[in-house]
Order: sequence, then structure tokens, then C-alpha cells
Amino acid sequence: MIDFTANRLQGIETSAIRTMTRLAIQHGAVNMAQGLPDFEPHPAILEAACQAIRAGHNQYSITWGLPELREAIAHTFQRLYNYRYDPETQITVTCGVSEGIVLALLSTVNPGDEVIVIEPMHENYVPAIAFAQGKPVFVRLDPPAYRLDPETLAAAFSEKTKAIIVNTPHNPTGRVLDAEELGAIAQLCQKHNAIAITDEIYDRLTFDARPHIPLATLEGMGDRTLTIGGLGKTLAVTGWRLGYVCASAALTDAVRKLHDFTTICAPTPLQHAAVTALGLPDDFFAEQRREYEVRRDRIFKLVQSAGFVAQPPQGAYYLMSDFGQMGFEGDDWAFTKYMTETVGIAVVPGSTFYATPGLGQTEVRWAFAKRPETFDAVEERLQNITTL
Ligand SMILES: Cc1ncc(COP(=O)(O)O)c(C=O)c1O
Repeated sequence: MIDFTANRLQGIETSAIRTMTRLAIQHGAVNMAQGLPDFEPHPAILEAACQAIRAGHNQYSITWGLPELREAIAHTFQRLYNYRYDPETQITVTCGVSEGIVLALLSTVNPGDEVIVIEPMHENYVPAIAFAQGKPVFVRLDPPAYRLDPETLAAAFSEKTKAIIVNTPHNPTGRVLDAEELGAIAQLCQKHNAIAITDEIYDRLTFDARPHIPLATLEGMGDRTLTIGGLGKTLAVTGWRLGYVCASAALTDAVRKLHDFTTICAPTPLQHAAVTALGLPDDFFAEQRREYEVRRDRIFKLVQSAGFVAQPPQGAYYLMSDFGQMGFEGDDWAFTKYMTETVGIAVVPGSTFYATPGLGQTEVRWAFAKRPETFDAVEERLQNITTL
């Protein structure tokens, strides 16, 4: 059989996380694998989407996003982070953050350019770098603190470095990078004339009053950062596929060309609803944070009591845990299979978040954007861990 596929896809696997969701369904396991909320979004957003459809907003919209949505994104960013993007020339609405990441890389990376990636990492970065024919260079965050070591980071930069991908709040560790870590990244980007591509999809999900700091707001970083964010996670609408890329006018011009000829526009009625979503009162977001803190505390307690080693996440809605001390014989894939089929809880094998072979083999990730009943089911099923 002749293989017609392009070389750039070699080594790229389909998503392990979505595989786990399929296995969860097959075995009737509680799905703590995929990062999607199992509760309803705010009713005002749902109503706004239905109204937009009924009002006839069902055709293509301006390719780079509804003007009122771009204004709402600019306004929100300015209000939260005191930094102004021009909605006319600096913001592009995309079909989710995933598209934003691909566009950012395709519009800046030439074949052979190096792109620094901090591992463990979200699963779409390495494939997106491969699409751009770049070369990933990995820098590790080590447990338990998962802090960025400035010397290791500095050693990863070279004259071939074109970009660094920075995800904070971080999936899968729940780390929120602090001013010192971000300062080190900013300094190295400027020293090596590199750009930063940030994934800030969890920007409104930080806990214990920890601030989220967008890298673009650091001195000298505005014009060399593509800030990518989205609505799917913080508004519990992951299926709506809404994200955005904010960057200098020159970089935005490049991003918009790719977006136009890839997806034309993000779903028009949902962009209308997104304007309503971004206009929800601060109280809603504050209350949501509190609810997530309760979920974070609950999953942390459950996982710890079951014998895993973990740290309480500072943001996002994931927890990385180590089962190395629990006496299980086998790697993270074997453990995940055991968890799904015997215990009845689907989690994600830790090694899928690393590119370096051998890492993550005693870890699994839990997603905790879940209802109280789901946690109850997890608590009950964790009792099944008796046979290790
Ligand atoms: C860090 C991170 N970036 C991006 C995505 C995907 O975002 P979207 O659904 O908007 O494409 C996820 C989803 O889990 C994520 O955790």
C-alpha cells in the first residue's frame, strides 16, 4: 500500500485525551480525562446564542471577527491587565485557541526554526510546530514545584530560536507563572530576538487571589508577543470553538491571512453570544473562581487520600498526580487502563504531556471542571483501588 501522507505528519499521533474519552464511554467510567465542564454555561449566554440564530446572524461574519466582539476582547483585556490592543488592527477571532496556536506558528516560523516548548505541555503544541516545519526544543518543569529554572531556560535559547510557547495558567500542572519566571522569559526573548506565543486560555481561572500576568504586558514584549486566549474554558462552552489572537498589526496581518483561507470566520451567532459572555459582571467570574477553588480542594483531597502524590493547582482545572508510591506494577498507560476498566475513572496518562521519552510514566492527569455528583462518583469509585 502506497503511503500518500506528507512527511510533516510523521510521528504525530491522534489526541490521547480524546482517546481516553472514548474509552470512558466504552467502559462506563467517570470521565476525569478530558478538560471539559460537565455543567451548563451561564443561561444568559445560551439565550444570547439562540437569539442570535433567530435574529438571522447565520452567515459568514467579517473574517477576523465581529467588530463588537473584537472591541469586547480589547476592552476586557485593558480592564483586567491595563494593556490596550487595537481591535481594528491587532485582534483576530479564531475557531478556538487550537486554531490560534496553529496560526501563530504558521505565520512566524520558517522550516528549521527552533521553538521552545515547556514540558509537560498541552498536546497541540508539538503537532502545530510540525505543521510549520519548526523544531521543538524542550524545557522541563520538574515536580513537585513545577517552577521554570532560568538557567535551564537560558540554555535552551540559541541563534536559531524563533519563538517560545508559554502557557499560563498551565495545563497539566496547574502552575501560574509568576513575575520572576515571566521576567526571565521576556529578557531571553529580547536578548535572542525571539517572539513569544502565549496560551492564556485559563487566564480567569487562578486561585487563592493569585494574579495572572500576560507576558505582553511586560516591558519590551508587546510587539514580540502573540497573546492567545479563548472563551471555551472560562465560560464552559468548549464546543463553541471561540478563541482570539492579539498581536502587533504586522503579525496580525499575517495571522489574518491564514485564518481567512483556513476557516474564513468563527461561528457567527456564537460570536454574538460571546459579546454577552464577555459582558457578564465581575461577580460572575469571582463566584466562578470560588466554585473552582472548592472543586480544586475536593479533587486534591480525594486524590491524596487515595495514595497519590500531588500539589494543589494554582490555576486552570487540572491536577497532575504521581502513583509511583502506590505499588502498581506498570507504566502510566497500564495504570490508566486499570483506572478506566477496573476502578471506573478515566484519567490521562502523564507521559502524553511530555515529548522526552521516559518522563511522566508514573503520573496521571485529572480534569476537575465537574459537578458535585461527579466528585461523589469519583469518591465512591476510588474505593475500588484495593488490588495494587
Ligand atoms: C492549554 C490549552 N490550550 C488550548 C486548549 C484548546 O483550546 P480550544 O478548545 O479553544 O481550541 C486547551 C484545551 O484543553 C488547553 O488546555
